[in-house]
Amino acid sequence: EWTAGNIVEEQVAAIREQVGDARVICGLSGGVDSAVAAALVQKAVGDQLTCVFVDHGLLREGEAEQVERDFVAATGAKLYVADERERFLNALAGVTDPEEKRKIIGREFIRAFEAAEKAVLAEAAAEGAKVEFLVQGTLYPDVVESGGGEGAANIKSHHNVGGLPEDMQFKLVEPLRALFKDEVRAVGAELGLPAEIVQRQPFPGPGLGIRIIGEVTEDRLRILRKADAIAREELTRSGLDQEVWQMPVVLLADVRSVGVQGDGRTYGHPIVLRPVSSEDAMTADWSRLPYDLLATISNRITNEVEEVNRVTLDVTSKPPGTIEWE
Ligand code: XMP
Repeated sequence: EWTAGNIVEEQVAAIREQVGDARVICGLSGGVDSAVAAALVQKAVGDQLTCVFVDHGLLREGEAEQVERDFVAATGAKLYVADERERFLNALAGVTDPEEKRKIIGREFIRAFEAAEKAVLAEAAAEGAKVEFLVQGTLYPDVVESGGGEGAANIKSHHNVGGLPEDMQFKLVEPLRALFKDEVRAVGAELGLPAEIVQRQPFPGPGLGIRIIGEVTEDRLRILRKADAIAREELTRSGLDQEVWQMPVVLLADVRSVGVQGDGRTYGHPIVLRPVSSEDAMTADWSRLPYDLLATISNRITNEVEEVNRVTLDVTSKPPGTIEWE
């Protein structure tokens, strides 16, 4: 019988069997899959597991804290945090091309993860232990997909932050290999992970880096984070967040338009809301959100985010538009 409780029990036993008394390392991305996989391994082998979180500074408001504080509180996992925000900002300086951004973020992520990994390996060695296993949050659909090759068109290079170097010296632990996304969420809830992690909607590996159209800077990240937090808060408050597949919020950082606020002229940036409904992200339609909700989001963003003086709605389906703007 399929219950989340049974899956947990089964996987915990399987992980113990596979890992024995070796050490295990697991990268956390802030997403559901890596968090649930890590929580399962933690339950199975406790402190033999070290989780690694590379903070690339491209997550949304509160997400780094969800990993560093809430995940740790819920699981008791050992966590190594690598604050790499500077590294990513430096590498992205002056870059505007979407594919170039994706490549840089993917490459720097691997470098940053390898550096963190080295530190964890050294720590283990100092205790006379050896890290032999790496946890991956691979799901059943990923298994099927990679068996079927790359697909007809690789339209954008996709990076799953957490996706790892090819010359790997580890054996893989993949406790989610038989599960679909909704099952992973159920297992995560069973393990006591917070709803903010378990119910998180899809979010691209390159993060806000591909939602700032133009160069990525610290200031632009701050602006987008603020606008995005407001949009998400209102979507959640409306109760419609479960019907919307995801709602990217995009900053048109190189565009400015004239506005008026109080007695003054403004010259600010537009924000684009991109709420979509979808089954699997391969195709999507724009979500018909209630006008009142759109009005609230628009009013709040233009009032609370000084640099933004216009909120626009993307009414393009996929195809021809993709879900993300880059
Ligand atoms: P697009 O923009 O291609 O997005 O319609 C389809 C889905 O994939 C997500 N996305 C990514 N996910 N790494 C990821 O893990 C990536 O590089 C990436 N790019 C896009 C996007 O948010 C949507 O859910």
